[in-house]
Amino acid sequence: MERMLDRVLVIVPTYNERENLPMIVGRIRAAVPEAHLLIADDNSPDGTGEVADGLAADDDHVSVLHRPGKQGLGAAYIEGFHWGLKEGFDVLVEIDADGSHQPEELPKLLERLADGADLVVGSRWVPGGKVVNWPLSRELLSRGASLYSRIMLGVPIRDATAGFRAYRASTLEKIGLDDVESQGYCFQIDLTLRTVHHGLRVAEVPITFVERTVGASKMSRGIIVEAFWRVAVWGVAGLPRRLRRPR
Ligand code: GDD
Ligand code: MN
Repeated sequence: MERMLDRVLVIVPTYNERENLPMIVGRIRAAVPEAHLLIADDNSPDGTGEVADGLAADDDHVSVLHRPGKQGLGAAYIEGFHWGLKEGFDVLVEIDADGSHQPEELPKLLERLADGADLVVGSRWVPGGKVVNWPLSRELLSRGASLYSRIMLGVPIRDATAGFRAYRASTLEKIGLDDVESQGYCFQIDLTLRTVHHGLRVAEVPITFVERTVGASKMSRGIIVEAFWRVAVWGVAGLPRRLRRPR
């Protein structure tokens, strides 16, 4: 029997998001009151971890995962996913802490999951999707990364690096998390590719991405370089499969 999608865990990764965290937690709690939150903090030097503990002390719908140091978005989500699967959640959500992903749009993603998708991606680059206040350089980088992924990997996804997503627990159990090596934002491409390769259904829902007004992006040259070479390696590794089954 298909698992009910009642229990939702929203995972919020943080690194130096002290100013943003109370805002995003409040908005998530208001938008999806039944959901549980897990803040995955990488021992932020600005004290985000203590802010998170304060929020958790005041609200039994909020938990905190304290990680030893900055190990990348991918590692933080993997640990959060393991936590959520062990706790028996049916749905695991990814969302940035800086307000770029609007919690008010989360019910739309969850509806699509309930309609039968195995992964729902909140997409900037499908019709109806928007980005507010991004410099052209960031837009080109994001569109370029998605185009590169489509060409190299054949994944039919417009926004392959999107970080606003809802996974069924069953999807994460099937695709396997233990051998994920991606550390930076290519983690998103990695899990998208795994989901597609398992024959699971990926749906893209248009969202409005609003660039942060407080704090700084953690995007770095290292993140870009990692994505570039990993996608190339996956592309070569996937060639036999694509030649057998051309899209
Ligand atoms: N725990 C932890 N560890 N959290 C991290 C780390 C890390 O090493 N690096 C980043 N984060 C958290 C940030 O604190 C934030 O909540 C979220 O991950 C996104 O980081 P940003 O630095 O705000 O990302 P961005 O705005 O540059 O990037 C956006 O585009 C990327 C590429 O499309 C986001 O939407 C990303 O999710 C997306 O992959
Ligand atoms: Mn951001």
